[in-house]
Amino acid sequence: MSAEFETFLQKYPAYKQTAIMDDLRKTDYARLDAGEHVYLDYTGGGIYAESQLQKHQQLLRENVFGNPHSSNPTSLAATHLVEGAREYILKFFNADPAEYLAIFTPNASGALKLVGESYPFPNGRYLLTFDNHNSVNGIREFAHARGAEVTYIPVMLPDMRVDASQLDFELSRPSKAGHNLFAYPAQSNFSSVKHPLEWIEKAHAHGWDVLLDAAAYVPTSKLDLGKVKPDFVPISFYKIFGYPTGLGALIARKSALAKLHRPWFAGGTITVASVQGDKYYLAEGAPAFEDGTLDYLNIPALEIGLKHIESIGYDVIGERVRTLTGWLLENLTAMKHSSGVPLVRVFGPTSTEGRGGAVTVNFYDRNGKAFDHRFIEQEANKVNISLRTGCFCNPGAGEIALGISRVELDVCFTRPGHEDRLSIDDFRLCIDGKSSGAVRISVGMVTNFNDVQAFLAFARGLLS
Ligand SMILES: Cc1ncc(COP(=O)(O)O)c(C=O)c1O
Repeated sequence: MSAEFETFLQKYPAYKQTAIMDDLRKTDYARLDAGEHVYLDYTGGGIYAESQLQKHQQLLRENVFGNPHSSNPTSLAATHLVEGAREYILKFFNADPAEYLAIFTPNASGALKLVGESYPFPNGRYLLTFDNHNSVNGIREFAHARGAEVTYIPVMLPDMRVDASQLDFELSRPSKAGHNLFAYPAQSNFSSVKHPLEWIEKAHAHGWDVLLDAAAYVPTSKLDLGKVKPDFVPISFYKIFGYPTGLGALIARKSALAKLHRPWFAGGTITVASVQGDKYYLAEGAPAFEDGTLDYLNIPALEIGLKHIESIGYDVIGERVRTLTGWLLENLTAMKHSSGVPLVRVFGPTSTEGRGGAVTVNFYDRNGKAFDHRFIEQEANKVNISLRTGCFCNPGAGEIALGISRVELDVCFTRPGHEDRLSIDDFRLCIDGKSSGAVRISVGMVTNFNDVQAFLAFARGLLS
């Protein structure tokens, strides 16, 4: 055992309780080490276990499944598995089937679009945090188009948490003339801040519907819908257990779902549609929101993936991520150039309190000048480290972290020639040499000590 590993274990003894992941790393995830990968983009996507593939392939090899929009034997076999997966999703999140239902979508963005395009916005309000994924930001276009007031609540440096007094103020003044939707991420995909789940009931008390974006939260934290009751919960399954891609869910409270009005109908969403009668009737429940044929061959892999997570347990996953993130943060923030200038600046909390496993930073040279995030990515690529750079589809958090002001953005967006088109290079010129992105290192359930050490060694190589 290396001296460093010993020090790590002394500081984070709970890591030892996560040894099951070291065993699985040698079997179910052996390809990571076989390919000498240092995978540190778990917020981007999870890594699947080989056993998930085997179980899914066996199911496909041994059965015949038909399109579930029918009642023949192969169709019924598919329906059985699809409905089983739907039930299993609710059970996994401890959601009461009398209260919640699970709608299959292509990903979290698909789930968010369902809410955005169907929410009764006229005369209402759409309240959201600066810290949000673009697929949550994008809902504002539906809100604007239907005359709702759109309000953003800022996050504050250095921790990038929300100013609670401003949030309380906005929550206390819902529109009386329309519906009110409040959207925030349970965990930021930029700073990894875990925003308080207590906001859900606070918002409900003032009459808001709550959209809790759980896409970045559920890969490493248990979401218990028996305890907290958001109205709309979008998730992407590949972020939790890696396989399959192309499937997500909108877990929705039935009472909130009843407020939504779909803007169209499609195959599978109706009981009756008529051409001559120019009329259609939507199906009850989840099918009304599931356009066309479901991904019925991949949906059974969701139950396999969820059972895999349960066999490990969120306690183990949480401890694994917390201990490794703590070690990563303390070592990275301690690195200084010979000039005394720190190597990194962290955008988000520097302790493990109230945060997840993504550490977002920029790197600086000995004179305090930022390294371009694209350069860091290129250097990391050379040593087979997979990390993410840019703004991670979270421009609000990015603008605050990187100090890009409203005035600068207004100047940029109103420049002649930029009415309809703005490339990322134009944008960089516009913000006058300021950094336009950052570097995100995200630890996940399959990460081990060696991965973090490999990254720290890489970072040390950037010191002068
Ligand atoms: C917090 C958050 N919300 C939503 C999404 C969108 O997920 P998808 O791209 O799978 O639709 C992501 C993806 O990174 C995310 O991190």
